[in-house]
Amino acid sequence: MNKRGNFSGNLGFILATAGSAIGLGNLWRFPYLAAKNGGGLFLIIYIILVLTFGYTLMTAEVAIGRKTGVGPLQAYGKTDRRFGFLGWIATVVSIIILSYYCVIGGWIVNYGATYMNGGASKIYETGVKDFYSSFITNPIAPIICLFVFMGLSALIVLLGVEKGIEKASKVMMPILFVLIVGIAIYSLTLSHYDIKADTTRTAWEGLKIYLIPNFEGLTVGKFFSILLDATGQMFYSLSVAMGIMITYGSYAKKESDLVSSINQIEFFDTGVAVLSGMIIIPTVFVFQGTEGLAKSGPNLLFVSLPQVFEQMGIIGHTVGALFFLLVFFAALTSTIALMEAVTVSIIDRFHLARPLATSLCFVISLVIGVIVCMGYNLLYCEIPLLNGTTGQILDLLDYLTNNLMLPAVAFLTCILVGWVCRPHYVLDEIKIGHKSEVIHREKLFVVMIKFVAPAQLLVILLQAFNVFSFLG
Ligand code: PHE
Repeated sequence: MNKRGNFSGNLGFILATAGSAIGLGNLWRFPYLAAKNGGGLFLIIYIILVLTFGYTLMTAEVAIGRKTGVGPLQAYGKTDRRFGFLGWIATVVSIIILSYYCVIGGWIVNYGATYMNGGASKIYETGVKDFYSSFITNPIAPIICLFVFMGLSALIVLLGVEKGIEKASKVMMPILFVLIVGIAIYSLTLSHYDIKADTTRTAWEGLKIYLIPNFEGLTVGKFFSILLDATGQMFYSLSVAMGIMITYGSYAKKESDLVSSINQIEFFDTGVAVLSGMIIIPTVFVFQGTEGLAKSGPNLLFVSLPQVFEQMGIIGHTVGALFFLLVFFAALTSTIALMEAVTVSIIDRFHLARPLATSLCFVISLVIGVIVCMGYNLLYCEIPLLNGTTGQILDLLDYLTNNLMLPAVAFLTCILVGWVCRPHYVLDEIKIGHKSEVIHREKLFVVMIKFVAPAQLLVILLQAFNVFSFLG
């Protein structure tokens, strides 16, 4: 056990795990989904899901990790031999997500470095949209950025659990919290006179759009699609169903209070997502109005926001630099978690030394990452996805993992814990180190893991094949 490493205490565990959870999902995906799904209503549904569904899955995984004391590749099989195959699926999911996540991490490196070097005017001269498309279609530059970003996370993983991951999280996470709170406060002071519309828009109006639930035009079909978007987002954001929580759970000490740590992780992860929405939705609204919000979509980070920073004038350079630094830290701590999950699986299963295991993981994901980069130039094609849209290699991998593989792993984890080894397997483990005899959400956990979560996951899996499109 000692050879693998441990977190030194509760704080290390909480910050590292929160670091894995807080990532691009919070800063980019959450605000864009909230804007798409009518703000306040999405927010309420999301928070309820985190406190029920998210809590259940996270608890199950962290407990399996600490109880088995091994990486995800072996942990499921050690819990019940028939479920050993789940370890392989979870590991493959981690490798795939790691590869394309690092490609986006590379883009962030490029934008962050450009803003920090005072090169933002270069982006504006080229035109924000053209800068983005000429960068991602360049055959070399994104690969170099990918290499730098992935190399950085490999270096941290190489240093081990306490000296690498825990230390890096203890430095990056507090800075991240300060940055996000600071930028949120600044965004709420913004207002802008729009010459074309002859009107002044303020951040407070934008905040209202974000926070006040909008029930106008709400149909059953629309509600259902908001629910599915929120569930998928909750999954991705909490980093469950891919072995990461098992990995970090396996480094938690027996005297660590998992129950209170999980509560805090949920709080931080949701808090950062909500704050990020408080930055992005009012800011885009102030400068681009409601059409800006409707248009932002997946290009939010690399097109819409730089456009906003451009409109802010000189201060936009500093805000842009700080914002990309924030996104960089968030993405890096998530990547480290993914890389660690794969690395420790190799260490535990094949008894390789950490440097060798890390290098192996680095090389495999770099190769996939390079192929993902080439999806925008040499290997460009429009790949049809099951939901009727098309996309590039990155979109295909994102769709396969988020819509199919993650729900499948989560569904089978619920069956394993709820019906095969039974909920007490997890509950007994989390009671160790817990200060009181009572676990507040114990009954909720049992009902969720046995019935509600598997049913909801089945619906998500079916939706990946567009089965519910008839709801409109
Ligand atoms: N939870 C991370 C986020 O919100 C995404 C992630 C998914 C990280 C999977 C690691 C593994 O961005």
